[in-house]
Order: sequence, then structure tokens, then C-alpha cells
Amino acid sequence: MTAGPDTTAPSREPWRATVLTLYPEMFPGPLGVSLAGRALAQNTWSLEVRNIRDHATDRHRTVDDTPAGGGPGMVMRADILAAAIDAASPAGDDRPRLLLGPRGVPLDQARIRDLAAGPGVLLLAGRFEGVDERVIAARNLLEVSIGDYVLSGGELAAMVVLDAAVRLLPGVMGNEESATSESFADGLLEYPHYTRPQVWEGQSIPPTLTSGNHAEIAAWRRREAERLTRERRPDLWSKRK
Ligand code: ADE
Repeated sequence: MTAGPDTTAPSREPWRATVLTLYPEMFPGPLGVSLAGRALAQNTWSLEVRNIRDHATDRHRTVDDTPAGGGPGMVMRADILAAAIDAASPAGDDRPRLLLGPRGVPLDQARIRDLAAGPGVLLLAGRFEGVDERVIAARNLLEVSIGDYVLSGGELAAMVVLDAAVRLLPGVMGNEESATSESFADGLLEYPHYTRPQVWEGQSIPPTLTSGNHAEIAAWRRREAERLTRERRPDLWSKRK
């Protein structure tokens, strides 16, 4: 066999993800299988995982210290974190830098779309009580939360960001149309789905969906999407223009 160009690989540069963590062994984890895993194998995106601890300077490889002013827990040191960031993302790297933590601005699909449209992302998985506040502004970090609950660290949140962004990269999703009709695409939750059997445990598929009338089907789906959004997500509903 001759070594010709690999026609299955994308010709563009991969979307670049870098994760800074104290637990590099957690990656790629779920990102190594299914849609994201296939895209990783095909070089649609790349994943670099770096251990923050490699930038510790003492014998015990310490990355944290007690909070100034007292109180519980430990705080990640600004100098160690800055060294890790500077090594991973030198001047000229224009990828956004996200710090995952429960104090962050809520992650939403609009931000995911922006990330997927850019060159990639640098993700910092926080642990302990938090990180020294000074490093956040000094290294231009945007704090992002994946929801109003507290995880034991930012690693799972970083995976959530990557999974959501990678599936939007060109060529990753089989059916490109699913991305335009899915939840949040237009500020609404997605309409309900049905498939065979036609009758299951005495319940029929809503007759409109089997009518063959595409305009009526579209109108039914729109009404259902609006009803679900109003009932379940009044916050999204009131934000709609
Ligand atoms: N780390 C701990 N809790 C988190 C959350 N809710 N979102 C993002 N990162 C976190």
C-alpha cells in the first residue's frame, strides 16, 4: 500500500484543549470513548493534560497553603498556578482560559458554541477551597460553573465543557441537523420524541406526528417546546425575545 494522504483526517488544525489538573490520570476518561473519543482519534481535536504539581518548587511538591485570614480548607497558590499556566499557554496563545469552580458564571450553550468556534480552550480544574484570587485577573481566567452544586474538583466540569464543545466541531456529529433542533438551539427545550411501536402499554404516539402533515408536525413541536420551557425553565422562558 502506498502512503497517500489520509482522506479520513480533517485537513484543518485540530481544536486544541489543554487541561491543568492535580489528577491527570482522570483524563481522557469518558472523553476517550464515543463521539469525543472518535474525534480525538481522528485528530479533530487534541487533548493535552498537564499536572499542576509539576510546577511546585519544594521537596514535598506543595501546591496549596492555608487561607489568609484563617478559615477552613486550603487555597491553591498563585505562583504555582501561574507557572503552570505560563508553561501551557505562552504569549500568543489566543485560546480562552476557563477556571472551573462553583463560583463561576453559569455555563450555557451559547458559551459552548463560542468555544467550539474558536481555536480551543485552556481549562483549569480547581481543587481545595479555591485558588488565590490574584492569579485570576493576572492570567485572565474566566470562572465558569456547570451548575449550582459543589463537585470535589473541577475535573468533571472540565470534561463537561469539552464534551459539549467537541460534539459541535465540524464533522463530529453524524446528523448535523440535530445541533440546530436540539435543546437551547433557539432558547427553548427540545420537543418530546416518539418512535415505534405505535401503541405501547396502551399509549399511542400523538396522532399529529403520524399524520404526514409536515407543517402541522412543526407547529406541534413548537408548541410542545414552548410548553416544556414555560413549565420547566421559567428562567429561560422569560429571557426569550
Ligand atoms: N468545581 C466544583 N464545583 C463545580 C461546579 N459546580 N462547576 C464547575 N466546577 C466546579
